[in-house]
Amino acid sequence: MTLEKKLRERDDRRNKALLGGGQERIDAQHAKGKLTARERLELLLDKGSFEEFDMFVTHRSRDFGLDKVKYYGDGVVTGHGTINGRQVFVFSQDFTVFGGSLSEAHAEKICKIMDMAMKMGAPVVGLNDSGGARIQEGVVSLGGYADIFLRNTLASGVVPQISLVLGPCAGGAVYSPAITDFVIMVKGISHMFVTGPNVVKTVTHENVTSEELGGAMTHAVKSGVAHYAAENEPDAIRFTRELLGYIPANNMEDPPYIETADPEDREEESLNAIVPDNPNKPYDMKEIIHQVVDAGRFLEIHADFAANIIVGFARLGGHPVGIIANQPAVLAGVLDINSSVKGARFIRFCDAFNIPIVTFEDVPGFLPGVDQEHGGIIKHGAMLLYAYCEATVPKITVITRKAYGGAYDVMNSKHVRGDMNYAWPSAEIAVMGPKGAVEIIFKKEIEAAADKEKAIEEKVAEFTEKFANPYIAAERGYVDDIIEPKQTRGRLIRALHMLENKKDSNPPKKHGNIPL
Ligand code: HXC
Repeated sequence: MTLEKKLRERDDRRNKALLGGGQERIDAQHAKGKLTARERLELLLDKGSFEEFDMFVTHRSRDFGLDKVKYYGDGVVTGHGTINGRQVFVFSQDFTVFGGSLSEAHAEKICKIMDMAMKMGAPVVGLNDSGGARIQEGVVSLGGYADIFLRNTLASGVVPQISLVLGPCAGGAVYSPAITDFVIMVKGISHMFVTGPNVVKTVTHENVTSEELGGAMTHAVKSGVAHYAAENEPDAIRFTRELLGYIPANNMEDPPYIETADPEDREEESLNAIVPDNPNKPYDMKEIIHQVVDAGRFLEIHADFAANIIVGFARLGGHPVGIIANQPAVLAGVLDINSSVKGARFIRFCDAFNIPIVTFEDVPGFLPGVDQEHGGIIKHGAMLLYAYCEATVPKITVITRKAYGGAYDVMNSKHVRGDMNYAWPSAEIAVMGPKGAVEIIFKKEIEAAADKEKAIEEKVAEFTEKFANPYIAAERGYVDDIIEPKQTRGRLIRALHMLENKKDSNPPKKHGNIPL
């Protein structure tokens, strides 16, 4: 056979592989408002950068009619490419082939690119769209999942892992995305659940739709499993590309610097007026973040979950930073179970990948209540505290207003190795707010007073004068400086420059025991 003929044979097979489960199923995929595995990769990766592996892999099982149908690629497209010029390894499940279900061979393809990503020190982006374990293959398919879970775990903290869930993701299959660093879902087309609506109905007699049980908004708002609920697939892919722009390729690299035209010492006059005189009045912490960071660009993560804390990425002087901020506009910025977990997970990601952490603090304390106590606010709050204590990346805090009680300690105080701790003149740093404090420590005087209201007012004024300010903390060196709000950007960037060569470490250990 001539080479020309052999190449034609190769091309015939390649064309079959490119068609996945066939045109009819591709049309059905489109009719559901979904892109195909290959169309998704085309959008995700830089044009022409995709190098595919294992296009000719097929399943091995011969049971239940699998000996009669074979599809090249076996339901997953794998390989590597670039995103904004930077290498990433990818897999994209092809729902048109056996519903994207995971066979032994399918799992091996995914494991292969994960192993390569670890060797090369490059992120893994997984595009999930699958009916779960290939039912015809039984335990072999379960083994394949476990092989992936193990690699997800070993890669955690070594290379970034991002999961896009772009269709069904059910049963144990959910645990691969769940172990990865970020989960992105699409409204209306993504569903994640351990057991679907039918099983739920049988077991608990609850009637629930797929969307209510495990749709994008359910996981973005209620469970916190999803870090972003995209409007559509192109939006999910845009978010992924932008997210990777802040993250180093692996835990040994620095996050990617991008030159900025935004002056490092830019002053923002509006910040001087943003905190209201009345300490009980809310304001939007996001405004502060936008005014301070390079070109006002802030990529918020987990925006729909526990909005009383804000987390996300931005740049300061061209260098990526992870921002964590209490949000006084939602529940007065109080720390509760969900916000603690949200903050802790973000801190640990930043710390694992050498991304400095900037904390904006305005927190009245932890949320009181039976639900919170019984739900474990103690262990969840401890998780946030542990994450801050453990982190050795540069850590800077700006207290804009309240820093009360245990929350003062937790939110990157000097005592938990905050490197630079700034306060605005509006800061109030104390064990608790003035009214609560005087009602406890002056209880007897207040009860004995002829005019109780007046007595409270006087004591509140006295307490406020003495404690509701940043100076007692500053006298002790617990805050390094009281800065003018409009200069916050410049002060943060100078601090980050100073911290560029920071080296800090924790005692040698196998691993700590974060209070999960
Ligand atoms: C083999 C599967 C499959 C599977 C779907 N297909 N799921 N083949 N194994 N798990 C095939 C179908 O036979 C069909 O083939 C094609 O994929 C498309 O499926 P449809 O049902 O026509 O599509 P749709 O109506 O969109 O429904 C999608 C679906 C449904 C909701 C995912 O197919 C479904 O419920 N599948 C089974 C899900 C499941 O129970 N999986 C096991 C979960 S347990 P044709 O030839 O007609 O195109 C699990 C354990 C993991 O995954 C454990 C890890 C620890």
